[in-house]
Amino acid sequence: MQKSNVANLIGPVLSQGKEWVVIEPEPGLEQGELRITILELLEYEHLIDITVARLPMCFMDVAFNHLDNKPAPEKRKSQECVRCKFNFFCNGFYPEMEEYVKAIPDIPIEVVIEVTDKCNQACSFCFNKFEYRLDARNARKEMNGEEVKCVLKKVKEMGVKIVRFSGGEPLLRKDIFNLIEFAKDLGLKVWLNTNGTLVAEIAKLIGLVENVLIPIHGFDEKTDEAETRLKGSFGLKLKAIELLNPHCLVRCGVVLTKQNAANIERFYLLAGQHGIRIMEFYRPIELGRHDYLKKAISNIASLNKKHNRNFRIANAIPYCFNSQVARVAQGGVYDDGATRIVVDSRGMLKPSYYLVVPMGDALQTPLWDAWNSEEWLALRELRRMPIQCTKCIHRHTCRGGSRALAKLNSGDIAGKDPLMKRPVLR
Ligand SMILES: C[S@@+](CC[C@H](N)C(=O)[O-])C[C@H]1O[C@@H](n2cnc3c(N)ncnc32)[C@H](O)[C@@H]1O
Repeated sequence: MQKSNVANLIGPVLSQGKEWVVIEPEPGLEQGELRITILELLEYEHLIDITVARLPMCFMDVAFNHLDNKPAPEKRKSQECVRCKFNFFCNGFYPEMEEYVKAIPDIPIEVVIEVTDKCNQACSFCFNKFEYRLDARNARKEMNGEEVKCVLKKVKEMGVKIVRFSGGEPLLRKDIFNLIEFAKDLGLKVWLNTNGTLVAEIAKLIGLVENVLIPIHGFDEKTDEAETRLKGSFGLKLKAIELLNPHCLVRCGVVLTKQNAANIERFYLLAGQHGIRIMEFYRPIELGRHDYLKKAISNIASLNKKHNRNFRIANAIPYCFNSQVARVAQGGVYDDGATRIVVDSRGMLKPSYYLVVPMGDALQTPLWDAWNSEEWLALRELRRMPIQCTKCIHRHTCRGGSRALAKLNSGDIAGKDPLMKRPVLR
């Protein structure tokens, strides 16, 4: 692998119809250039499995699953490894690669604060409705402004760089701009999940937020409105996307309901028509098996090729469900306590949007204590995954599928994800 020849390198491999490629880094390539080259390589990950040989996983956090982690007798570990978040599953580094080794701190990428559970839409699948009565959540009211600010200060003290406001619909809160300004004054990056329908508020976001996630729940006015039960929701969201697109990173989320899954190409066309750069799909987190997703996954794989996109399933889904999943899914890396802390509207901590397990009260518990608690560590270190998954080659990205769905369907957080088949061994 050399600087800037990625297309020349991948092109011939693709034309031979290969499914995977192992690439050797060029000796002496400067580290920054090497990282950029890997990012360029990953532009092709929807077409082919890519592994870069010899580099330790810590060399590039966002690409860790593409870096060589095969056990080898020459590999070893150093003091740096002991402080690294990958230590519990990393097989070490080749001695000549020691200069590339640098501990990745074990700290959440972001803290999500659900500032309200009120919403002006009424989506049938919304996770806000389940398991909400656990852990005395009902004994507590929605956090007031001072309480949210207290959590924001804790986020800052913890050293986390990103706070994401979500809900419910966060823009329904009267003090939301005050909270956003407060977070910005603390030096936090502000991300937002909003349904995009409150036009006056959307315009005020310009210059305040770096990253906005807007959902599209149907492929046209009729299907979107049928899901949201809000008149005009489709047009309002598209307007919000158009307005915010020049000012921040706008991502669009599509829940793969049966109807959406059967019409996936309509979403690719929408993306093309409305300048949507990133569209992410979500597997519905609700009771049931959703076997129809198998076809949807194959469709996403072929539509990505057809439309030259890299749209992905952004929440956890077992990689063994279908051979294409590894190509189109981000796996469980953003779910089930792996990289995020979520604070619900009453201030209770949970390890993901969907997984409600008692992790304490954000107003009382120091965030580090929660993050390093036994239950959170067990989730992070894959100790709440079915035993069958422990030898699977995909375990560190798939993470045993969705722990939230395992719990919802079987009552056991360490149970099987309903779409799980058998581990992939190599
Ligand atoms: C609960 S909303 C909160 C933020 C904002 N009001 C919104 O509409 O995006 C966050 C998003 O999570 C996704 N979502 C909600 N329930 C889900 C579920 N059961 N399974 C998968 N995704 C879900 C939807 O894309 C939804 O837009």
